[in-house]
Amino acid sequence: MNPTLVAGSANPALASAIAAALGVGVTACTRERFPDGETHVSVDGNVRGRDVYVVQPTAPPADSHLVELLLLADACRRAGATRITAVVPYFGYARQDRRRGAGEPVSARVVADLLGTVSIDRLVAVDPHSRSLEAMFAGSAEAVTAVPVLAAALRPHLHGPAVLVAPDLGAVKLAEGYAAILGLPVAVVRKTRLSGETVRAEEVVGDVRGLTPVVVDDMITTGGTVAAAARVLVDAGAAPGLVIAATHGVLIGRAPQILGELSPRALVVTDTVAVDLGTRLPVEVVSVAPLLADTIDHLHRDRALGDLVVYR
Ligand code: R5P
Repeated sequence: MNPTLVAGSANPALASAIAAALGVGVTACTRERFPDGETHVSVDGNVRGRDVYVVQPTAPPADSHLVELLLLADACRRAGATRITAVVPYFGYARQDRRRGAGEPVSARVVADLLGTVSIDRLVAVDPHSRSLEAMFAGSAEAVTAVPVLAAALRPHLHGPAVLVAPDLGAVKLAEGYAAILGLPVAVVRKTRLSGETVRAEEVVGDVRGLTPVVVDDMITTGGTVAAAARVLVDAGAAPGLVIAATHGVLIGRAPQILGELSPRALVVTDTVAVDLGTRLPVEVVSVAPLLADTIDHLHRDRALGDLVVYR
């Protein structure tokens, strides 16, 4: 029997592309919002005895997409699904994986626990911000990586000597993943986050003089991190013509404008998050649908994920 795909409302285009790559349909569901704002879902197709994959990135608005994912999973369980895998291409709340001050929760842990309460057996995320997600989620968690697909998209934009730049310490392992594929050196920006919207880049560690900087990150939200990195890269003598790549183009608020002002030579993201940028930003979007279809196919057949998974 084929895997059964259920799609939340966060990224139906990605769910359809995954379904097409697998050669299956997307199970019919109904979603509505009650007048008081509560989410109501109903899984209308048959999931009894099926191996079900619920595709729902918890992108903004993170809370309502998360609730919808929980409700869909619960509906599938109650309708007799044998096994439920949450495919959460972009896993929101992953940045809150530890307390940064007294009185804070560990929100990533709370979300991981919530997934367990609705009997989600397995979790698949693409380049999650925190690998500790694996330790937080009681079931099995697979972190698959979009780095190979993004690196392939970057190649045509790399003409001369270039350097991969991790815009903060947390992105170093990711940059090393790109470096292994593209054969480029790695530099790191020392960053301090002052608030949710403000960061300060202190300095670049590593040699970037005369090299095209390729800034790579797991996600771009406000664009503040990339913009701060761009400033210190100029000061450190990097060549003009910034190249930017990120797995998750969350791109809220003024992010398109902030990134546009950097006049990047290329900006590449994946489709884990559905963002309508209109014509405001020349962005290249590469799809993770083949990666996720492959992942689902392997999991469904109980095969090892091999190179699809990242162990960073
Ligand atoms: C933080 O550690 C992440 O890896 C990203 O660097 C950050 O979330 C990007 O956010 P923003 O675009 O708002 O600076």
